[in-house]
Amino acid sequence: MKTLLKKDLEQIDEILEGAIAVSKSYLHHLGEAAPNIGVSNMPKKAWDIGEGIGAQKALDLFKSHYAPYISATAGPNFYGYVTGGSTPAALLGDWLTSVYDQVSSVTPITAKHESDTIALYRELFGLPSDFFGSFVTGGTTSNMVNLAGARQWANQQMGQDGSKNGLDTSSGTLKVFAATPHSSTYKSLSILGMGRDNLELVQRLPEREAMDVADLEKRLSVHPKGPCIVVASAGTVNTGDFDDFHALGALKEKYNFWLHIDGAFGGFAAVNEAHQHLVGGWESADSIAIDAHKWLNVPYDAAFQFTKHPGLQRQVFQNGNVPYLEGDGTTQDFMNYVPENSRRWRSLPAWFTLLAYGKEGYAEIVGRNCRLAKELGDGIKGHGQLDLLGKVRLNIVCFAAKIDSGIDTKVLLEKINATNKVFLTPTVYKERFAIRVAVSNWRTGQKEINELYQIIANATDALKE
Ligand SMILES: Cc1ncc(COP(=O)(O)O)c(C=O)c1O
Repeated sequence: MKTLLKKDLEQIDEILEGAIAVSKSYLHHLGEAAPNIGVSNMPKKAWDIGEGIGAQKALDLFKSHYAPYISATAGPNFYGYVTGGSTPAALLGDWLTSVYDQVSSVTPITAKHESDTIALYRELFGLPSDFFGSFVTGGTTSNMVNLAGARQWANQQMGQDGSKNGLDTSSGTLKVFAATPHSSTYKSLSILGMGRDNLELVQRLPEREAMDVADLEKRLSVHPKGPCIVVASAGTVNTGDFDDFHALGALKEKYNFWLHIDGAFGGFAAVNEAHQHLVGGWESADSIAIDAHKWLNVPYDAAFQFTKHPGLQRQVFQNGNVPYLEGDGTTQDFMNYVPENSRRWRSLPAWFTLLAYGKEGYAEIVGRNCRLAKELGDGIKGHGQLDLLGKVRLNIVCFAAKIDSGIDTKVLLEKINATNKVFLTPTVYKERFAIRVAVSNWRTGQKEINELYQIIANATDALKE
């Protein structure tokens, strides 16, 4: 063994203590740290990787060169995209995931743990036991894996087996419908060879981002035998709107389509009694995507992928027959259901955080985040120069400067973010440039939302003067 490696092995305690010291100093200040730090002013550095310097010196270099540029995206003042932090228990689980460094798929305990954890989350989300589930890397992958199952189903309906013979789209009959799809749906269709342009946009309900189910029915009736794929939303990214899953379930009785629900963050409506109705009827879906690294507040990269058709999914993701990868049959062979063969033990942080805080803890986080979003929305509605765009149904607040205020919303966003006390992201809502606030961090409380409202109001008032 090379001397430096041997030395590091001998000093493993000091190395871990170094990591703990860095972690403590970061986490203790996360509440006040700047939520967005650019890297354009970073001094250029040419790293010497010749002999190596050992872990402790590498940590020193990291601390001086990169650490000062880390944005507090995991903190309570980051409202961009839909971003969660990490609960203490999730962090513990994630740390141990790296310590144990198991090859999930090959080691029986990780498969057993993943099955157990999926069952706990089915319970949390109120999903019936006929949903098979697995952990994947994020919402995009979850949508992609589920749509791969949908593609295999549609193929079979057309008398083909895409997993064996490749995809024949020459008949042009495979239609995908959605009203307000997340960009990752288009990406998934591209990855899967189904084509971004095969997605047909369904009309939305007036003043909503939710699907007009009557319009969907018209479109489905053009393909009475299908097969079609409908991608529904449990939480649109702009305004957190939901499609009507009861109505979509009823349509499934009449038309031949696969119903996929993208509930990347909105799936968490299921965990809070006041918001459960938003996902009412979602059990009629064929597949559901829910992120873990958003509202569950576990570290990146983790999401749930649920399907009622694991057999079809397996046809797509079955790894070749390799005797050394066959398990002993006592645990689920997850690698035959997902893209990766070798996988990180993703169920561990998710298990820790749910065991630690329980259904009640998550009901409280979701309830609090939604209440604060609603409060912020009310404040914005009441401000003379701002328009609240869309009702606050969940945890997203979408707004813009009133058209006749003379304030440029882009400039307003720049002014808000320039405080570097909060970070919000832009969007386009009904062809209008707008600003989004997503409240999904477990630490965000009343104090943070009061400060956020004040920052928005001050920036607006200053631009009006
Ligand atoms: C509705 C929706 N679907 C999918 C995704 C993609 O998730 P990820 O970034 O975890 O891949 C997001 C991310 O914001 C989302 O909001």
